[in-house]
Amino acid sequence: MDGSTAIKARDGTPVAMDNHWMPFTPNRAFRAEPAIVARAEGVHYFDPTGRRILDGSSGLFTTPAGHGRREIAEAVGRQLMELDYTPSFLRGHPRAFELAGRIARLMPPGLDRIFFANSGSEAVDSAMKIALAYHRARGEGQRQIFVSRERAYHGVNFGGVALSGMVNNRRTFGIGLPSAVHMRHTHIPENRFSRGEGEHGADLAEDLARVAATHGGESIAAVFVEPVAGSTGVLVPPKGYLARLREICDRHGILLVFDEVITGFGRTGRAFATQAFGVTPDLITMAKAITNGAQPMSAVAVKRAVCDVVMNAAPEGGVELFHGYTWSAHPAACAAALAALDIYEGELLFERAAQMSAYFLDQLFALRDIPIVTDIRGIGMLGGFDVAPMGNPGQRGHLLQRRLFEEGVHIKTTGDAAIVAPAFVMEAGEIDRMCETFRTVLKAL
Ligand SMILES: Cc1ncc(COP(=O)(O)O)c(C=O)c1O
Repeated sequence: MDGSTAIKARDGTPVAMDNHWMPFTPNRAFRAEPAIVARAEGVHYFDPTGRRILDGSSGLFTTPAGHGRREIAEAVGRQLMELDYTPSFLRGHPRAFELAGRIARLMPPGLDRIFFANSGSEAVDSAMKIALAYHRARGEGQRQIFVSRERAYHGVNFGGVALSGMVNNRRTFGIGLPSAVHMRHTHIPENRFSRGEGEHGADLAEDLARVAATHGGESIAAVFVEPVAGSTGVLVPPKGYLARLREICDRHGILLVFDEVITGFGRTGRAFATQAFGVTPDLITMAKAITNGAQPMSAVAVKRAVCDVVMNAAPEGGVELFHGYTWSAHPAACAAALAALDIYEGELLFERAAQMSAYFLDQLFALRDIPIVTDIRGIGMLGGFDVAPMGNPGQRGHLLQRRLFEEGVHIKTTGDAAIVAPAFVMEAGEIDRMCETFRTVLKAL
């Protein structure tokens, strides 16, 4: 089976589909029933026939300013003609330094050292290595254990898979995973249908104290959490939970890392979730919306004090961190990120996310009267709901996603959880249309 009919080359000839091994996709089923997107503009995708599909997940949480932003495309084009590439090791270019300064200004005070990579997964692995380098530089190289959470998603490289709490992402990849201990997730029945932070469950942070008691706090390098676990269904933390994690980390000298690959750049209604929840970690990973999705890029913001320790431990004139990527701070990605930040600032998009949030969550929470909807959660412009399983786990969620696509709405589902993340530029009428389509499809499921 090659399902070659749906795709045409630029010269119009048919293209076979079996050469492209698609990620996180049932490839054989996809080739039989391809869902092809050919164009995007504003909050819509268009299939090859021109059918309009409302983008309910801002790409993959990547595109809060909407698709096809000319300012970004032009900045990338100009940059490629001026300087398309420069080696990232031992050579710098102006836009990388400019961008690092711009990102530092969005961070809580002190997190102003910025390390660039190309994907969320690379940012997570970079943060793990920075944590290890920091402890080693302080003479605490015994800190080798990482702590994360069940139902976490920290990307797909070996480090991030070890931290993630998703069995399908781990089970194939064997003993090469770094050592990670998982705390319980915070999705507890007492908080069902909570808007924002749930009232119950701050004490789940005590799992970290238990891990420290079992393994020795002095053996733990860092705790990684997504402030709001995104990919497994938008799990908003209980009130006080993140602050409690911070306290326990401080007690044991453990670094706290917020993986803000989804929550960064306005998704919670503040620039970063660290500000939304009033808890400051030692490192923050970010990706996705950093370029409004137009170029691959990610970064790790590191507390200056942490960076200084690593810098000062290296011999004078020597490389301080033996880590980096050919495309760290790629000029085109830097240009895209600077143009995206100009848009976010110029159009006050983080403030708009905060303003639109109430309307968006009102419409989403209105689905609670549908019997198969068993929970709804949300904060800012990020919402999730669960559907009661039917047949195998995830079957109904997959069907929901397919039916919605047929009805002209794109969202991401994970198992039986639906994840909704509209662009911040989405209008109230479009949010209505999206949620009405959810209702129609859910009622028929
Ligand atoms: C919290 C978090 N961390 C890391 C990643 C991995 O990012 P990427 O797919 O860019 O490698 C993701 C992706 O969704 C994510 O949500």
